[in-house]
Amino acid sequence: MAETITADMVIHDVVTRYPATVKVFHGHGLPCTACAVGARESVAGGARTHRFSPEKLELLVKDLNAAANGEPTSVAPKKAPVGKGIPLNMLSSDPDRKIKQVIAIMSGKGGVGKSLVTGLLAVSLRRQGQRVGILDGDITGPSIARMFGTRGQPTKSASGGIEPLRSKGGIKVMSMNMFLEKESDPVVWRGPMISSAIKQFYSDVDWGQLDYLLVDLPPGTSDAPMTVMQALPLDGVVIVSSPQMLATMVVMKCVNMVQQLKGLIVGVVENMSYFETPNHERYEIFGPSNATELVSVTGAPLLGQMPIDSALTSLCDAGRVEEYYSDAYEALAANFVSTLKIKR
Ligand SMILES: Nc1ncnc2c1ncn2[C@@H]1O[C@H](COP(=O)(O)OP(=O)(O)OP(=O)(O)O)[C@@H](O)[C@H]1O
Ligand SMILES: [Mg+2]
Repeated sequence: MAETITADMVIHDVVTRYPATVKVFHGHGLPCTACAVGARESVAGGARTHRFSPEKLELLVKDLNAAANGEPTSVAPKKAPVGKGIPLNMLSSDPDRKIKQVIAIMSGKGGVGKSLVTGLLAVSLRRQGQRVGILDGDITGPSIARMFGTRGQPTKSASGGIEPLRSKGGIKVMSMNMFLEKESDPVVWRGPMISSAIKQFYSDVDWGQLDYLLVDLPPGTSDAPMTVMQALPLDGVVIVSSPQMLATMVVMKCVNMVQQLKGLIVGVVENMSYFETPNHERYEIFGPSNATELVSVTGAPLLGQMPIDSALTSLCDAGRVEEYYSDAYEALAANFVSTLKIKR
């Protein structure tokens, strides 16, 4: 076996070049792959910080090389338990609030399925009879209205606010789409205007009484997520990622932002986890799951792992996401609902 990984290599370089080594670091009790330390610290340095004996370090390096070469390691493969994690602190629930809970759906990474997961989570709550709204916080690339097939111009509500659109299933939706003449019209706005649009979507829209307002966000950690974290009475954040190592690393920036701003991560969703053939053969198209790492870094439960499902894409494109059912989705929905402690 070629000794490709040595103790003086930087941890992040190791996991970037050999993603399979993440589980070895974790299996040996080294969480440095996900924290800032790993960006500059060597394997030996990380081991020193965690008081490894020379023998333990030697075994770690041996296992890292084994994992990099696709060989078995001394670390048992661990699967993130779906629906289990560190217990949550209870979300705030002021009975007088018109909108009882505001939950943002975030990811540092683009295209991992934030909007789709937002839609699915909203549908799962609605199916429980909850009053649900979705604030499409992706001002320049809105996609929620399309997914729910909601079209129309904004109108004034009886109380003088903006009336949100309603999906077929009764979910209230507010999206920048409503203000555009054509769906393909670009919104060429700078950060402050985006922030102010999000604040207005929250305060000037006549949401009425809602049990949940879900906020779909664009990727990254810039204006829109910052505004939502700082200007909205946010109760929790759901993090969405895909199994790709790169996605996990970029998502980590978002996790760090939420933690720095003292937000509460209520759960993690891994999307596009696998593809299943009609004969039930599974293919991990984007690679093995990184959910264990996300769970350990966030301290929040894994709500579910969604497969790549062409039926789901078609329903979204047709504006009929509310008609979607699948086993994986049922599991995600059940975990999300029980995480939010809804009395059925
Ligand atoms: N599990 C899935 N199965 C099939 N298609 C999916 C799945 N998840 C997402 N998609 C499709 O992939 C595309 C990207 O998803 P989505 O728009 O939800 O990602 P996003 O993270 O919100 O992207 P952005 O960063 O641009 O906001 C969409 O066309 C969506 O329908
Ligand atoms: Mg999106």
